[in-house]
Amino acid sequence: MVSLLVLNGPNLNLLGMREPDVYGRETLDDIVTHLAQVAEQVGSSITHRQSNHEGELIDAIHSAKGVHDGIIINPGAFTHYSYALRDAIAAVNLPTIEVHLSNVHAREEFRHRSVIAPVVLGQIVGLGSSGYEWALRGLVRHLQQRSVGSA
Ligand code: DQA
Repeated sequence: MVSLLVLNGPNLNLLGMREPDVYGRETLDDIVTHLAQVAEQVGSSITHRQSNHEGELIDAIHSAKGVHDGIIINPGAFTHYSYALRDAIAAVNLPTIEVHLSNVHAREEFRHRSVIAPVVLGQIVGLGSSGYEWALRGLVRHLQQRSVGSA
């Protein structure tokens, strides 16, 4: 059974009421409930954490080592400047997918750069809440193929 850590960063606890035209009307609870159902369908399980604090996200990434097989992360605005978060992901060396609800490349210039992107397996942007689902399906498939390859 593949075990995944799903991490959401600052302000994502406000999904549903936060700029709904940009981020949609679903709450974080709605998204995580759906994701847990999809996870079960594809033979995996998720543990979800949301934090508005950089250090808590870093601690959660460190704790994933040896416990989870991969990470799905929407780092919120930390995406654009947190070298500490990037270093944490590189340090644990778990396959990680970065998700953004909005198409960051079609928005303000400061959102075009992700300091996280160079250390992740892949990025999904602009698909709204379904981006989390595609991240999960893609990561589970990646992990399953990898374990077949090493069998
Ligand atoms: C976001 C994009 C970031 O630029 C922004 O700061 C967020 C949400 C997204 O999911 O589209 O908080 O990560």
